[in-house]
Amino acid sequence: MYGSIGRGFSQKSNHSTDVYQDARETVLNFVNADPEEYTCFYVNSTTDGLNKLASALVESPDDLVLATRIEHHANDLSWRERCKVIYAEVKDDGRVDYDNLEKMLKENEGKVKYVTITAASNVTGYVTDVHRVAKMAHEHGAMIIVDGAQIVAHREFSMKGATPEEDIDFFVFSAHKMYSPYGGGAVVGRFEILNKHLPTFYGGGIVKLVTDYTVKYKNAPDSYEAGSPNYAGVVGMARAMEVLKEVGFDAISAHEKVLNRRLIDGLKKLPGIIIYGDSENIDDRVGVVTFNFEDINSFVIAQKLADRGGVATRRGAFCAHPYVWRMMGISDEQAKTYENCIDMNTPGMIRVSFGIYNTEEEVDQFLKILESVLDSARVDTQKNELAIPAY
Ligand SMILES: Cc1ncc(COP(=O)(O)O)c(C=O)c1O
Repeated sequence: MYGSIGRGFSQKSNHSTDVYQDARETVLNFVNADPEEYTCFYVNSTTDGLNKLASALVESPDDLVLATRIEHHANDLSWRERCKVIYAEVKDDGRVDYDNLEKMLKENEGKVKYVTITAASNVTGYVTDVHRVAKMAHEHGAMIIVDGAQIVAHREFSMKGATPEEDIDFFVFSAHKMYSPYGGGAVVGRFEILNKHLPTFYGGGIVKLVTDYTVKYKNAPDSYEAGSPNYAGVVGMARAMEVLKEVGFDAISAHEKVLNRRLIDGLKKLPGIIIYGDSENIDDRVGVVTFNFEDINSFVIAQKLADRGGVATRRGAFCAHPYVWRMMGISDEQAKTYENCIDMNTPGMIRVSFGIYNTEEEVDQFLKILESVLDSARVDTQKNELAIPAY
């Protein structure tokens, strides 16, 4: 029962189309979005979703968007390349500075059209208070977009806030972050607004009629889904949502907290360790821990962890260069000098990310493997004249 969506004329095709359309309800339900107010369109990833959304919502290069310095490039460049963007700062500990965000809204009273912010950072794991930001945005005449890439598998997310002013207008996420196959995702958004706009992404499936001279587009969400859809990706995403709900977000966040605490406490015992973000109060951090050693190149460590222990970390600036540089204390001037650096010499951190399947034993094993590679990584760092210690 696997056929073309909205195109075929057969039982298989009709069945697949029904499953595909019904999955929208699963998505809306997953983020507690009222189907009377919200719809969702499917995308390939958060990056795809943010670009499509930005291409639809931005009406002029003079439009003003307020983002933050915590953002992944997907939620920065999608806007930066299309209109004017201003950024709320982060505090020294890396948390979003909400007072600064509000100040910027006040300073640009009535001008900011959209506030866009991540629900959780892929660098420090901080969960942001998006409902608080929604209230601020709405009070100053802006709508709010939330990058949900790092929240969907880690915390329950609701489009609804405690009051209507705290409701979220748009939410974008990737399915692969929630254990579904790569190539899926969705944008949940206000039907009325989506229906007034069109993304710059055209083709079949989004039109009612095309003549030699005219085009009549369908309503949202169809108008956002040109081309043959990713049926398998949508089925996988809907099933992943059901599984995550079965496991339960209370259990997931409690489990992550235990793993985070165990890892951070273990790391703290290692000489020369630098742990990024707040390592004492970790309640608002999803399962992400980033670190460095004062005198060891992070590239060397990550390579050794993979080669010797089969440990998959990520090393680098995680597509969030401005935020990573801030956390590492690297100035704009310094950052510019890395433009043409080879990977090893571009400053970065090492990141450990936890999934629902990770265990405390694995944390202990990781710490053991890490400890076992440090001496040789130190020697390799010193041997390599190009390597920048501490990064
Ligand atoms: C916070 C955040 N936003 C956006 C993205 C982009 O997601 P994708 O690569 O699936 O488009 C990521 C990916 O890691 C992310 O962590």
